Amino acid sequence: MTQQYDLFAPTPQKPEKGEESFFQGDAREYVRLVSQELARRYETPPLAYVHSYGCQQNVSDGERYSGLLAEMGYGFTDRPEEAELILLNTCAVRENAEKRVLGNIGAMKHYKEHRPNLIIAVVGCMTQQQHIADRLKKSYRHVDLVLGTNAFIRLPALLFGRLTKNQRYFKGPEDSENSPIIEGLPVRRDGTLKAWVPIMHGCDNFCSYCIVPYVRGRERSRESASVIQEVRQLVSQGCRDITLLGQNVNSYGKGLEEKINFSTLLRRLNDEVEGDFRIRFMTSHPRDCTRELIDAIADCPKVCKHLHLPVQSGSDRVLKEMNRHYTIEHYLELIQYAKERVPGISLTSDIIVGFPGETREDFEQTLELIKQVGYTSLFTFIYSRRSGTKAEKLPDVVTAEEKSKWFQELLDLQGVIGQEIMDSYVGRRLRVLPEGPGREEGTLTSRSDGNLIVEFPGDPSLVGNFVEVQITGAMNWALKGEVVK
Ligand code: SAH
Ligand code: SF4
Ligand code: F3S
Repeated sequence: MTQQYDLFAPTPQKPEKGEESFFQGDAREYVRLVSQELARRYETPPLAYVHSYGCQQNVSDGERYSGLLAEMGYGFTDRPEEAELILLNTCAVRENAEKRVLGNIGAMKHYKEHRPNLIIAVVGCMTQQQHIADRLKKSYRHVDLVLGTNAFIRLPALLFGRLTKNQRYFKGPEDSENSPIIEGLPVRRDGTLKAWVPIMHGCDNFCSYCIVPYVRGRERSRESASVIQEVRQLVSQGCRDITLLGQNVNSYGKGLEEKINFSTLLRRLNDEVEGDFRIRFMTSHPRDCTRELIDAIADCPKVCKHLHLPVQSGSDRVLKEMNRHYTIEHYLELIQYAKERVPGISLTSDIIVGFPGETREDFEQTLELIKQVGYTSLFTFIYSRRSGTKAEKLPDVVTAEEKSKWFQELLDLQGVIGQEIMDSYVGRRLRVLPEGPGREEGTLTSRSDGNLIVEFPGDPSLVGNFVEVQITGAMNWALKGEVVK
């Protein structure tokens, strides 16, 4: 289901009084009401501090929250202490992420002592859990607004309520419905060279350790015409590096009326959008990753030669417990095909250490797997118990200390493998996109197709234009090179 939102459409309905209509009213009308209210109160635009935690999907949502705020008349600041509105867009994926957010929210209390009109809003994945929403209500009295991931479009209404009624408003999980995808919202992006473009929302996979399906709702895909239109517009505005986002991009298209899958979407973007730009995507679930997708990577010049294919564990037994629906044999077949079909492809992955019931033997299979694949880089996590997930109740006997040791072992091994891969680039040529000044005076930093950082001596005028670079050296975090004349 898609809903078109045009904030400037000429027919806003005057909301009726009363709380229900207040929440459910037309967002456009509330955008107008908030901007009137702000103009009445402030001589210059009041400042908003917006911070997103967590994955790129969340960062992308944050850009839409900022877009709405800009439309309502807010300016922006990086300094929470000078803001009139603080909006924290939270992540629930691991316990330490949540603790950090709660700590930060707690620390914001003292801002209110100096500026009683400050509004603090907490939105995003954490608030979609009942126990967190309750805790914010009871123990964090300085929080004014709470919006779950599905209540996104209610921000203008709640903000108007807070500004005019001096009440706290909560739209947590109890008000949650699977919100339709809302097209046409304003987006305020950081920078112009790179952009995130969500192609789908939610997740239906229910990996047994993961909170995302509970806090993000069911999988919904955007129509291909909307995605293509957004990419075309970004490219025409000078964007050169576009990342398509979804928790499982390989199931893109499910539930849409049009017949389309992710490989076709990639091919259409490659063929139909003119201009010098490149396309990335994340994340691919190995169960739904197909040879057809790898063929699309191989065939489309604008699609980066990079595959982020999170494996999570090298043990079939653990994968089964994780509800991942693939075996290591299947995974390695995909990797083998990718290496043959796309020579030089850069491979990356996510790994969880210490899933409940994981044994030393299981863990050693993970070490074996990463040797076999040769990942450019890994995102590694120690398992974190999430309330409401299937794995929450599994017995977990390995101590935290032991898990930390395994974790360090994994990092050390990847350190060696990653360095070998970096060294293997020396002498090769890469096409890179310069993004800004490098660490050393007179150098630029850039990214390759495979998402590696490449630094080289160059003039700032090169920023934003693809260049060929000869790789002359490798450090563990970046490559060094020289522009090919
Ligand atoms: N949809 C993506 C990733 C989403 S979350 C995918 O399926 O690959 C990003 C990563 O966080 C996951 O790949 C996983 O490695 C990690 N993760 C998720 N839940 C976790 C948990 N409870 N404990 C530790 N790591 C977790
Ligand atoms: Fe979580 Fe699995 Fe969905 Fe990824 S695919 S978001 S790990 S449930
Ligand atoms: Fe975190 Fe929500 Fe993303 S839980 S990882 S911000 S989908």
